[in-house]
Amino acid sequence: MEKKWWHDKTAYQIYPKSFLDTNGDGIGDLRGIISKLDYLKDLGIDIIWLSPIYKSPFVDQGYDISDYYAIAEEFGTMEEFDELLAEAKKRDMHIIMDLVINHCSDKHEWFQKALADPEGEYGDYFYFRKGKNGNPPSNYRSYFGGNCWEPVPGTDMYYFHMFAKEQPDLNWENPKLRQEIYNMVNWWLEKGLSGFRIDAIINIKKDLAFPNLEPDGADGMASCWRMVENAEGVGELLEDLKKHTFQKYDAFTVAEVFNMKKGELNQFIGENGHFSTIFDFSAHSLSDGEHGWYDAPDIDFKKWRETVAKSQLEVEKYGFEANIIENHDEPRGVSRFLPEYGKNPAGSKMLGTISVLLRGIPFIYQGQEIGMQNALWNNVEEFDDINTKDQYQLARAAGLSNEDALYVCGKMSRDNARTPMQWSGGKNAGFTLGTPWLKVNSNYPEINVENQEKDSNSVLNYYRKLVALRKSPAYREVFTYGRFVPAYEDTESVMAYYRVEEKKRIMVAGNFGKETVELKLDFPVKTVLLSNLKDWDMENRQVPKDILTLESCEVVVLECGSSCI
Ligand code: GLC
Ligand code: CA
Repeated sequence: MEKKWWHDKTAYQIYPKSFLDTNGDGIGDLRGIISKLDYLKDLGIDIIWLSPIYKSPFVDQGYDISDYYAIAEEFGTMEEFDELLAEAKKRDMHIIMDLVINHCSDKHEWFQKALADPEGEYGDYFYFRKGKNGNPPSNYRSYFGGNCWEPVPGTDMYYFHMFAKEQPDLNWENPKLRQEIYNMVNWWLEKGLSGFRIDAIINIKKDLAFPNLEPDGADGMASCWRMVENAEGVGELLEDLKKHTFQKYDAFTVAEVFNMKKGELNQFIGENGHFSTIFDFSAHSLSDGEHGWYDAPDIDFKKWRETVAKSQLEVEKYGFEANIIENHDEPRGVSRFLPEYGKNPAGSKMLGTISVLLRGIPFIYQGQEIGMQNALWNNVEEFDDINTKDQYQLARAAGLSNEDALYVCGKMSRDNARTPMQWSGGKNAGFTLGTPWLKVNSNYPEINVENQEKDSNSVLNYYRKLVALRKSPAYREVFTYGRFVPAYEDTESVMAYYRVEEKKRIMVAGNFGKETVELKLDFPVKTVLLSNLKDWDMENRQVPKDILTLESCEVVVLECGSSCI
């Protein structure tokens, strides 16, 4: 396999609105990010992904872009952005931006012109269709609820949107539109970006007949992604995009891809794939409800373990995926993947270790490195997220009480990841001197960066060691290119795997159970590289021989002896 510059990198996602506010308006900003570059460098971060910072009405928190060439005033100026790029470069860090090109904002100039004249040049930048007998052209339910077709007032036309009605879908069949997008992508790459995280990209290919589909809900509609699943030919569009942009710059691209067709992984992330990598959401999909969050199942440990292993083994045949436990669209991983008794610093470290040392590119989401957890939501007004509001209504419509609907939204809401970053125990967790745009998690007096800086055993200091281990000269190769081999799959509560290459075998094992377990070791142990509960060096312990004892929520990283391969 040809080695690429990004193979051995560790990435960090910043959600700018909630990262750090420096001017007291309650909204995080570029100055805040610049001021924390050293913090990120110290954590071992190489690549920073910024969720959208373009000009936007923020109906969907910046994923509705009204000007692809401008920085949102809320976040700062283009000069500040250039400064961020330069400061990152000085520290040998890469910046990648979010690329939202399935749709734009209804306030974008293109859409405003299209609305004024749907039959004109800009009408063809979007999908306008006539209704059928006074009804929308087809029965697709958008990702955020309601029909995908929005009537154009005063006409018999509708326009198409898979997300909010303020996010009209762009017509990728139109070569003019494609060229506009390519120019814009190259403009940013010329500025010195190292690549992009590519939003919702699988949706760009539609079934242009837009046929009605078998309803899958009481509303008589079918989820719009079913139409996408029926559409053929997304690969050609993606290749065209890559050829005209990313490829020319050796850019790193990480795509958000759900609903890929079977057998297509190689085309997406293989040696000549459409993208450098895509996110592995397989574990997250385990809590997809059939109808929504209200019927979302809890994560079952064994299913989770099996899913992670299966995905690792599949992916390593072709390339790399990007591993996450959470992002801005998901609840906090600590609250989601750990048992009640593990939602604490030990558990946070264990989950982090299992995730960061998998084969693939680790993406740490802001606050994960201090073990941030879901917030407690007292009423629906506390939520800001458009998706959460829709899911709350859906739950109520399905007969759940206010309390129960709040409970399911509290578990799944995207706002759990969007509460302000907890920098200190001071006012508003040190995020802002003003009023934060979204409430601060009430656990900030316990969980915050300032406290954890002072405590050598903190989650933060552990993450620093963890990332440093992954990148250390002696182990970088095995953690980057080593095979993934699942282990102890027949145990009740242990998630374990080896990372193996020619001369090294590393074992990573965490006990997700409540009771202590003993594992019979299959290979002699040379050293303990990392552990979240015991300090092996300090206590002059012997390395485990024959039997490895793991307490509840204990994780260890062991190097096996040279005779063990
Ligand atoms: C992606 C983003 C999400 C956004 C959606 C529409 O899934 O991650 O935050 O709401 O696309 O752009
Ligand atoms: Ca601000």
